Amino acid sequence: MSPLEWSAIARIVNELEQSFGSVETPEFADACSLSAHQLPRSLRELAHRFKYLHLPCGAVLLSGVPVDDERIGPSPAHWDAPWRNPPNLREEIAQCLISAALGDIFGWRTQENGRFLRHIVPIDKERNEQLGGSSSTTLVWHNEEAFHALRCDFLSIFCYRNEERAETILSYIGDLHIPDEKWAVLAAPRFVILPDKSHLPDQNISEHWRLDDHAFEHIRRMHADPQPVPALSGAREQPFIQVDEAFMKALPGDQEAAEALNWLLRQFDAHKSAVVMQPGDMLWIDNKRAVHGRSIYQPNYGARHRWLRRVNLTLNLRGSLPYRENAVGRHIV
Ligand SMILES: [Fe+2]
Repeated sequence: MSPLEWSAIARIVNELEQSFGSVETPEFADACSLSAHQLPRSLRELAHRFKYLHLPCGAVLLSGVPVDDERIGPSPAHWDAPWRNPPNLREEIAQCLISAALGDIFGWRTQENGRFLRHIVPIDKERNEQLGGSSSTTLVWHNEEAFHALRCDFLSIFCYRNEERAETILSYIGDLHIPDEKWAVLAAPRFVILPDKSHLPDQNISEHWRLDDHAFEHIRRMHADPQPVPALSGAREQPFIQVDEAFMKALPGDQEAAEALNWLLRQFDAHKSAVVMQPGDMLWIDNKRAVHGRSIYQPNYGARHRWLRRVNLTLNLRGSLPYRENAVGRHIV
């Protein structure tokens, strides 16, 4: 990001900062969508070309987005950090605003009570889990919320700190050659994907809110009775991916599908790229055209441990209307 681009963006951030003490409201989300129209043309053009598959890649890395290391304070010990008036409000607004060039921000009611901008920090208790807080295990290939039909089109990850040099790993479907016989299996509904652990009640215990148990009804149904889905879909030449290595299986007894899925996962390995994100790096990932994960790393637990932020973006906010409280709300229940 050039200084000229940033100075234009900073003016919009200033305006939003005067009006909002938190990014976690539907009013902010709407202001953000509207303000994104005023972003510099170069950024909007990049987002447009990325969104509509004019670029041969599954992710875009923007560098040089300012992060004030002193003002943002110590890295939080847990994702359950306060929602209002955070010291890093400016960075939060900037991430939401810049990312809104790709789509509308939204959250999941069953994941941190719908928080748009999640904290991704190492949590010792979760070090071996398939969760953002893990570190001793590879976070294996996945699309964000692969189990859900309304999963985001894009996610934006912004790095505040990564002194441990953990690698974010990516694999892009456009780099794979998929033979017809593999396509025939992978594009058929011969797989089930369970909701990942972050959507379970015991992963949502917070000091800041109490989540009503009925919010998990839909998730429970998806656990009890997962509907078969394909792993690949859409255009044969430019397919979409629906994969979560840790929570996905072929239907019982379907050995051919199990082998095809394993083949696809190993193809992702073979075409892996990795990025060690630096403070001020913002990664836009196409959640339908790329899978992502994270390498094993050793966290420096404490005030300067790894600290990333993540937000979901959709191209079709109208599509989730039946699953939100109302037209203005941005939480999918
Ligand atoms: Fe993820």
